[in-house]
Amino acid sequence: MKFFIDTANLGEIAEAQALGVLDGVTTNPSLMAKEGITGSENILAHYQKICDLVDGDVSAEVISTDFDGMVKEGEALAALHPQIVVKLPMIADGVKACKYFSDKGIRTNVTLVFSAGQALLAAKAGATYVSPFLGRLDDISTDGLNLIDEIRMIYDNYGFQTQILAASIRHTMHVINCAKLGSDVMTGPLSSITGLLKHPLTDSGLAKFLEDYNKGNQ
Ligand code: E4P
Repeated sequence: MKFFIDTANLGEIAEAQALGVLDGVTTNPSLMAKEGITGSENILAHYQKICDLVDGDVSAEVISTDFDGMVKEGEALAALHPQIVVKLPMIADGVKACKYFSDKGIRTNVTLVFSAGQALLAAKAGATYVSPFLGRLDDISTDGLNLIDEIRMIYDNYGFQTQILAASIRHTMHVINCAKLGSDVMTGPLSSITGLLKHPLTDSGLAKFLEDYNKGNQ
């Protein structure tokens, strides 16, 4: 399972990268705005900085909602760096743009996916990644994990190569359950990755090992 971090914060990206388990980064317009990154030149420069920090894929989302605009923006983003994956919304023009980019060999991530039917369309259009938003479904009392399960079954039934990128991850149990269901990738906040480290028996066990070592090596 690939681990992506879902942020535009360079400090958090560097921390996850330093842990040695990071496979990529996802961003969205809200995450860029949260870091105060505005204006197309600054946004492109920020994507460049992210690509310089990590080895893996960096999803960069288009703002346009029409086909021509998405193609223009997506081509500029893809030209910026080979690690860039063009992130497109799950709307009709987004599906058309996905097909256009996949025919040209440009990698895509279809975002804002909330149903199995949408995921099927994304795969048919040749998406590299599909992003079902697990946490946002849970937020409205709908089982987000069930969607991951359904997409896994459909993709396996037909051998679709589109990778399931479980998005809108909120906590470590989302990560673990997505791994059990065979999600190819997860993207979440830094805490969803570092939280996996934690276990009180690890901490107490290590403290005891060190205490015993120190007794015999004074
Ligand atoms: C996906 O790529 C999105 O950036 C993200 O996972 C959305 O998460 P949120 O629901 O926490 O905003």
